[in-house]
Amino acid sequence: MTDAADPRFSDYEQVLRTARSVRKHLDLGREIDPEDLRAAIDVAVQAPTGLMGENWRFLVVTEAKRKAAIASIYQTVLEELLQARGMPMKATHRALISHLPDMPALIFVCAIGEPPSDQGGQIGFYGSILPAAWSLMLALRGRGIGTTWTSLLNARADEVAAVLALPDGVTQTVMFPAAYVLNAKLKPADRLPAANVTYGNAWGVDYF
Ligand SMILES: Cc1cc2nc3c(=O)[nH]c(=O)nc-3n(C[C@H](O)[C@H](O)[C@H](O)COP(=O)(O)O)c2cc1C
Repeated sequence: MTDAADPRFSDYEQVLRTARSVRKHLDLGREIDPEDLRAAIDVAVQAPTGLMGENWRFLVVTEAKRKAAIASIYQTVLEELLQARGMPMKATHRALISHLPDMPALIFVCAIGEPPSDQGGQIGFYGSILPAAWSLMLALRGRGIGTTWTSLLNARADEVAAVLALPDGVTQTVMFPAAYVLNAKLKPADRLPAANVTYGNAWGVDYF
């Protein structure tokens, strides 16, 4: 997984710049090495954590029956969402749906506890779990494993909980379909540069 090197950026920054969601060009026939997963999760648990303190739990789903059940829920949610918004399904999303039951692993990032109702509490709650999910995605990418950041399944959290035997009081956040990447060239996305999204001293005032 390489990127056309830009001399402004270090190798470390190149990984960050090319951490794309990968839905195609994946080796579905190759199991994920548990030692790659262990190392990536050991990186993830070094993420910042707030008052909840290490309330992350990672659930790695490899059983065909459970993956098929999750894939079916995912497809239903996505189709309903797109229908409600009158949007067509992109080819990349179709690719993910068709691959989902055959992904070597579906990795769920869960939090023990439930988000409070106030905004500050919610920011603290999700802020204590999502950095670990992002670290996990980056660490997997560093080991040649492509993932997609997905949270659609939360629309049917109860059904997912039943498939995964999640106890009450556990919050699902992100699900990463994971597989080794096959010769995909991961490039930076077309995003607004720093100068367009950064202000200096007061809102709307150019910094750069
Ligand atoms: C909060 C959040 C939820 C997302 N949920 C999904 C999802 O359920 N399924 C999906 O295919 N993409 C989902 N995405 C989008 C992709 O992970 C990805 O960010 C997007 O396709 C842009 O691609 P890129 O990040 O590689 O540039 C989500 C992104 C975010 C930030």
